[in-house]
Amino acid sequence: MADTHEIQIENAQCQIHKWNSEEVFLFLINLTCRLGLALFDIIFKYSNVILLCIVLLAVVYVLYKSYWSPVILIRELTHTGFDHIPYVKGRDRVLHIARSQRNRQVGERVPPPYPNGWFALAESRDLTVGKVIPVDALGQNFCLYRGEDGVARIVDAYCPHLGANLGVEGSVKGNCIECPFHHWRFGENGACTYIPDVKNIPKGISIKKWDCMEVDGAVWVWYDAEGRSPMWTVPPLPELSQWGYRGRNEFLISAHTRDIPENAADAAHLNCIHQLSFMTNIGKHLPFLNNIIGHHIWETDWTKTDESHIAQMSIDQNYMVLKCNAFPFDLRVKQIGPAHVRLHFNCIFGEAYVIQSVTPVGPMLQKVVHRIYSPTYNAIFGAILVLAEAYQFERDVVVWNNKTHVSSPPYVKADKSIRAFRDWFSQFYSEKSVSMRDAMQNPLDW
Ligand code: FES
Ligand SMILES: [Fe+2]
Repeated sequence: MADTHEIQIENAQCQIHKWNSEEVFLFLINLTCRLGLALFDIIFKYSNVILLCIVLLAVVYVLYKSYWSPVILIRELTHTGFDHIPYVKGRDRVLHIARSQRNRQVGERVPPPYPNGWFALAESRDLTVGKVIPVDALGQNFCLYRGEDGVARIVDAYCPHLGANLGVEGSVKGNCIECPFHHWRFGENGACTYIPDVKNIPKGISIKKWDCMEVDGAVWVWYDAEGRSPMWTVPPLPELSQWGYRGRNEFLISAHTRDIPENAADAAHLNCIHQLSFMTNIGKHLPFLNNIIGHHIWETDWTKTDESHIAQMSIDQNYMVLKCNAFPFDLRVKQIGPAHVRLHFNCIFGEAYVIQSVTPVGPMLQKVVHRIYSPTYNAIFGAILVLAEAYQFERDVVVWNNKTHVSSPPYVKADKSIRAFRDWFSQFYSEKSVSMRDAMQNPLDW
């Protein structure tokens, strides 16, 4: 019996074999190699199917982004134009950029920061029925809301009772806005219509209501330093109600508000900073590649129109690859007032509209948004345009974020439109336009 027991113990010891770490390592290597070879074998065997699947997925993704999910590109202030500041990680980089901005000279005889005209405060699609949005712009605090009748309205943000911000936690009741603090309500014309437990509302309690216009996919406020009513409105574009919204790109820019539209009248800069391909900056460092990748040649013409608040520009663009004009398009631009631009693209892929709005968030801080619309048949072109246009626009942003204001430039022949543009733009200032110095409140901020 004892012998049998010993034999059993010996067998059990043989069966329980403990692997040392070297054996585990070798086993894993072996397993990985076998799996890798098996995978490689499958890929090789079904390479056509796999390639087809990848292409199909890419096509589905592009179609989805083009037709059902607008392309949204948002660039914060620190994103563009600060590559010259040595790279430091995280918060320190923001501090370095803030320091370089503080050291920047704004310039002399800078025009007022807030011209008179219409300014976009929000996208229509973001202001759904019953929604309330606070917006700070033009040295004001606004509250936007959409009543149950579907009409967008703009009022001052601060409640006349004890100063709560209606845009933060305020709510829509019918077509009124209700304050979040003590539930006072303000109606159509800004007058107070309801105070809890008060039967007779005292007269004269009201909130400032701003003139509001909804067109080109945005909600616009009329700002006028003299307090005048709107001097013009903008009729809707029929195309925008028939075409699809392909997306938007959005930039926060440290610049004077006039710098942005002045770009359209600056013909000479087009063949300088916008000559490189809309796809890549590589030609900047390797100029010989510009002929292979392609580069832009621009011709422009900026003029006033019969309507004093509208200027127009026509642009012919040729995209040259090895001396062939691979992608010509023409662009018709309408500048409506100080902060609203309609750009109409026409090329072999069809038409598209880019709607630009410039909103002065602060005296030297602009929010620029481009919303792109195109017909159904060329939705892919519209979606690509959101990115391509942003790529070209970023080249301007680099300059704007670092430039100073020159009030009397040494104009040369190519700058004649800039002089005409500045003259045209001056109509949007008036006697009470707040000066740059006052708008900045603290002169030390310069
Ligand atoms: S602060 Fe608005 S109701 Fe009191
Ligand atoms: Fe430009």
